[in-house]
Amino acid sequence: MAEFKDIIGYSSIKKELMQVADVLLNKEYYEKLGVKVPKGLLLHGVPGVGKSLMAQALIDTVDLPYYICRKNKPVSNFIYQIEKTFDEASENAPAIVYLDDMDKFANTDNDHSDYEEFVAIQAYIDKVKNEDVFVIATANNLDNLPESLLRAGRFDRIIEVDTPTQKDAEEIIGHYLSNKKISSDCDIKAITKIMNGNSCAELETVINEAGVYAGYERCDSIKMEHFLKAAIRVLMHIPESAINRSEDEDTEQIRHIAYHEAGHAVVREVLDPGSVTIVSTFGTSSIRNRGIMACCPDKNLLYSRKREIDIYTSLGGKASVENKFATNDTGAVTDLKDAYFNIKDLIATKAINGFALYSKMPGNCTEALDERQEIVASAEMERYYLKTRRILIENNEFLEKVVQALMEKKILCSVDIERIKASCEIVSFEL
Ligand SMILES: Nc1ncnc2c1ncn2[C@@H]1O[C@H](COP(=O)(O)OP(=O)(O)OP(=O)(O)O)[C@@H](O)[C@H]1O
Ligand SMILES: [Mg+2]
Repeated sequence: MAEFKDIIGYSSIKKELMQVADVLLNKEYYEKLGVKVPKGLLLHGVPGVGKSLMAQALIDTVDLPYYICRKNKPVSNFIYQIEKTFDEASENAPAIVYLDDMDKFANTDNDHSDYEEFVAIQAYIDKVKNEDVFVIATANNLDNLPESLLRAGRFDRIIEVDTPTQKDAEEIIGHYLSNKKISSDCDIKAITKIMNGNSCAELETVINEAGVYAGYERCDSIKMEHFLKAAIRVLMHIPESAINRSEDEDTEQIRHIAYHEAGHAVVREVLDPGSVTIVSTFGTSSIRNRGIMACCPDKNLLYSRKREIDIYTSLGGKASVENKFATNDTGAVTDLKDAYFNIKDLIATKAINGFALYSKMPGNCTEALDERQEIVASAEMERYYLKTRRILIENNEFLEKVVQALMEKKILCSVDIERIKASCEIVSFEL
């Protein structure tokens, strides 16, 4: 089944697709066993994870005539197109109907999910039930589809396609890099870590954009700095204008941003070693994104421990600036909100401060309970903040070295952080 070679990684989904292909190619074996041959497959998941690629690979493997229905623009009578697709498949059976991005078929001016487009698909699936027609569909969001359309017998196989795992991402990145000229300073593991949790389409775009940066600079090969720039622009939406910021920009302001981001990074690394993937002073002018610190938490961390580390990390930016400059850091609005949200959630729904503060229905408790939770959450916020300041004071050498490297290079990745860590003593902390 050579066609599945285009799908890199995703071995369990490929196995499932092979099984469906085998049923379609060898119906008689299954029918002899008295098995009812599946009639439909639905692939769903976030954009860019390869659903259309997988659907097409299955179609190419079974090599049957196929009829695509896809909504590229608003059409007044889309039901006619649905009808035409099913009729053509029926006339040319055995055949495949391919409904790409099916959840976009309905007109958005409707506010209920039994849209006539879905009712039509359901009716046509039922109409071709006893014919040799197989239906493949893709969708981003199952919530936009009526339950009746999804029931077994209509779509017998419903497969969720998630963003690639670390291992799959490594394979996909390796695949996209295989035809590119890469400089020896590139660390593929560090690049993969930065892209953790992103879709295949995003991986492909970052790698290509890195090549565009290298080409524009007339380099012989793509360097690590090109990957880092492409990653922050594509994945973190940092505009090109910020990346090309001129040297004469107010360095005092950049130093504040460097201490803020280094504060996040140092706290994270002390509590969750090896997790920081990228730190940068490049950002937007908005308070939310003045600089960047991203991490890939240790998968084995217990849930409550991870949430606590997230709280300390959020507070690390403000704590670092206030330790260093003895002034208020007013650029931490979103960090404070994130920390407060996590603390309140641990108190209210996980009962970490006892059942007296526990809410059975989060966000829907009595005013008195809400008030008690808020008081404890504020006190907890203070406690977490003071400890964050201590973590940074005890690890000041590490912090200063990260700031210095950030002022020089503007973007640091996990390799830079590891190198700095190896050059100083890290004081670990118990939570
Ligand atoms: N497993 C994979 N291996 C290699 N390339 C992949 C893989 N998955 C996706 N891609 C590439 O990523 C890009 C997006 O894939 P595709 O269009 O199939 O995504 P999708 O899930 O259908 O997205 P959407 O929901 O937006 O329609 C394509 O260029 C495709 O070749
Ligand atoms: Mg698609």
